Amino acid sequence: MYDNLPGREHKGERIVTRRKYLFCSLAFALGIMGASQTTEQAASPGMNRRAFGKMANGQTTDLYTLTNRNGMEVGITNYGGRVVSILAPDRMGKMADVVLGFDSLDGYLSNNPYFGALVGRYANRIGKARFTLDGVQYKLAQNDGSNSLHGGLKGFDKVAWKAEELQNPPALELTYLSKDGEEGYPGNLSVKVVYSLTESNELRIDYTATADRDTVLNLTNHSYFNLAGQGSGDILKHELEINADRFTPIDDTLIPTGELRKVEGTPLDFRKPIAIGARINENNEQLKFGKGYDHNFVLNQAGAGLTLAARVIEPESGRALEVLTTQPGIQFYSGNFLDGTIHGKGGKVYGRRSAFCLETQHFPDSPNKPAFPSTELKPGQTYNETTIYKFSTTR
Ligand code: GLA
Repeated sequence: MYDNLPGREHKGERIVTRRKYLFCSLAFALGIMGASQTTEQAASPGMNRRAFGKMANGQTTDLYTLTNRNGMEVGITNYGGRVVSILAPDRMGKMADVVLGFDSLDGYLSNNPYFGALVGRYANRIGKARFTLDGVQYKLAQNDGSNSLHGGLKGFDKVAWKAEELQNPPALELTYLSKDGEEGYPGNLSVKVVYSLTESNELRIDYTATADRDTVLNLTNHSYFNLAGQGSGDILKHELEINADRFTPIDDTLIPTGELRKVEGTPLDFRKPIAIGARINENNEQLKFGKGYDHNFVLNQAGAGLTLAARVIEPESGRALEVLTTQPGIQFYSGNFLDGTIHGKGGKVYGRRSAFCLETQHFPDSPNKPAFPSTELKPGQTYNETTIYKFSTTR
């Protein structure tokens, strides 16, 4: 599974080993070997686990923290498979937590818009909360007007996943069995998600799933990013680039019309980097429907394996985020529904547009849009998708 990560830990190890060697030689020459421990810079990679809190049914949850040699840290809880924190360096090496979330499980149990969550069985919207598969109509919960959003009333974001700690490289494996009929979806679905943190500062998410009956499936991660640091204000100055010539225009309930429309000449043209806030208030029907950006982009490289979908730069800190994916689409959501009522980590207030999401996915409402790439999963097939959130800095 990790073979296509070009020598990531080996490279890191080599650097550390060489550093150690140089330092040891110098220390030896100066006769100060005893000082070596305090001077070694590299953090040790690994994972630790601590209790995160109890769910209403008494089930306990844990918080797993993955660390790499660069000192980057990612906290993930098995409640909803949620990414709780991502500590990433700015151009001066200063760490900040770049995702919205809560300090304890209680926050996640209270009303919140999918912070950091694994979303399923069907991420994004299904129009009129129904679809037909093999001639049978399935009815879903209408939890977003008359539509179904993000898996229904109790989606994958609100269940406890079974967690297993993997070694070499350290990774967190989460599994969940979604029973036939859960939230109205057909078939027993067995889902596995592996989160790993590479030595190239990538949070890698590998999704696999199988079903025992024909079903539909669309999985994503719903992290809310603010590269200046969570709770530090709006994201309108972040510069965004999306590798998409087309998007799926929506109606006033945010359901795609079925058209694939060119971004050219619209405020949805992110083919060259531009500040998120540059055109967000333009008089444009799509922006009005979305109350800002809340649109699925048709990725140019779809079908070409794991390729670059989007890049974001926060000019002040220099933090950069690249999103790579095997998926055909990406939902860019500019945090329009955040309204300052949620107080998150460290008591920070999450105001309107104080974070953005880049949710890699199949297109919304695909089960009702035969021309869109299919989201059907049949027995004997394996769903297999990967998304990478890669952190770096610019000058
Ligand atoms: C997705 C949707 C948005 C909103 C958020 C959660 O990104 O597209 O419209 O529902 O989730 O608030």
